[in-house]
Amino acid sequence: MNTKVWKVDKYVDNLESNPHVVDAAHLIRENEVVALPTETVYGLGGNAESDTAVAKIFTAKGRPGDNPLIIHIAEKVQLNRFVTEIPAKAEVLMDKFWPGPLTIIFNKKDGVLSEKATAGLSTVAVRMPDHPVALALLKKCGLPVAAPSANSSGKPSPTKAEHVIDDLNGKIAGVLDGGSTGVGVESTVVDCTEEIPVILRPGGVTKEQLEVVIGYVDVDPALTDDEARPKAPGMKYRHYAPNAPLFMVSGTSRFLQQLVEEKQQEGLRVGVLTTEEQVAAYQADLVLACGRRAELETVAAALYETLRGFNQKNVDIIFSEMFPGTGVGHAIMNRLQKAAGNRMISEKAPTPESSRE
Ligand code: TXA
Ligand code: MG
Repeated sequence: MNTKVWKVDKYVDNLESNPHVVDAAHLIRENEVVALPTETVYGLGGNAESDTAVAKIFTAKGRPGDNPLIIHIAEKVQLNRFVTEIPAKAEVLMDKFWPGPLTIIFNKKDGVLSEKATAGLSTVAVRMPDHPVALALLKKCGLPVAAPSANSSGKPSPTKAEHVIDDLNGKIAGVLDGGSTGVGVESTVVDCTEEIPVILRPGGVTKEQLEVVIGYVDVDPALTDDEARPKAPGMKYRHYAPNAPLFMVSGTSRFLQQLVEEKQQEGLRVGVLTTEEQVAAYQADLVLACGRRAELETVAAALYETLRGFNQKNVDIIFSEMFPGTGVGHAIMNRLQKAAGNRMISEKAPTPESSRE
């Protein structure tokens, strides 16, 4: 399949009549799949009411079938078609954060959406993206659009159209290239089917921001406890991983630099993930600065591109600094820990090597 790339300037007026948006909307109505920019990451969109379209999404990504998709809408009234009720707290959240990086889980009406899109669950995840190109496409096609991140399953999510092409060229009908996404990490997923809402995936809207408008919000225990079973099926998979094994390092930059040198002595090519503030503290085969630690939003925005960057220079092992777990740092640490498969080396605890001595 020849994958079309349509460049669209997100700042022009009347995007709904832009010929590329019209083309893409037409393909979605024909049950083809196209990648679209959102404010978080690029999504791979298809008609959420069609098993054919949804099956194409899973195939292109190589995504496990038990991992449900987020349904994207352009207007709140679309919800009435496929959710049974809108709880009061969900209503408040939608007013405050939509369009924006917040996905809300509702109870689902049966028989409207493709069962494949919701992986057979009785609930459905919905969001309204805050991106003019995405909104124009959604309005033009007039359908609920299922859209997971537009990467091959397991890889870092795409924040540029080039990343989508790297992973999915030839496997999808087209990509609407609206430039770099802004937030850089995916939407926060919050389950509003219970009295106390629960964060199933940390993301662009922080726990602190949610609590300002609806009071106490729980966090799925699986986010901190390896043994617990996550309520968002996708959270159980290893994700966002660069090709080389990644280790989180808790400790000083001197400690991290020592780890680099040990591995280089073993003949390995070593990468370091740090920030602009600390980049001069390391000598390694590849040192990448991921935004500025003083502004964690810049770290979130650069995270996936930085993880992809390690694949372009062959490194054998990557050490990453840690980040604070509050605000958008919660999402950053969640994604890094997943990319690392939870491997962490701590300066305080003995490393396997040092305990053998
Ligand atoms: O920012 C985003 O949310 C991006 C853009 C493209 O909108 N999309 C995205 O989709 O990250 P995806 O498929 O990569 O992640 C969807 C997450 C998965 O962890 C999935 O398990 C969870 O949402 N999810 C979907 N439906 C669910 C449901 N009914 N109950 C619990 N979790 C659900
Ligand atoms: Mg994803």
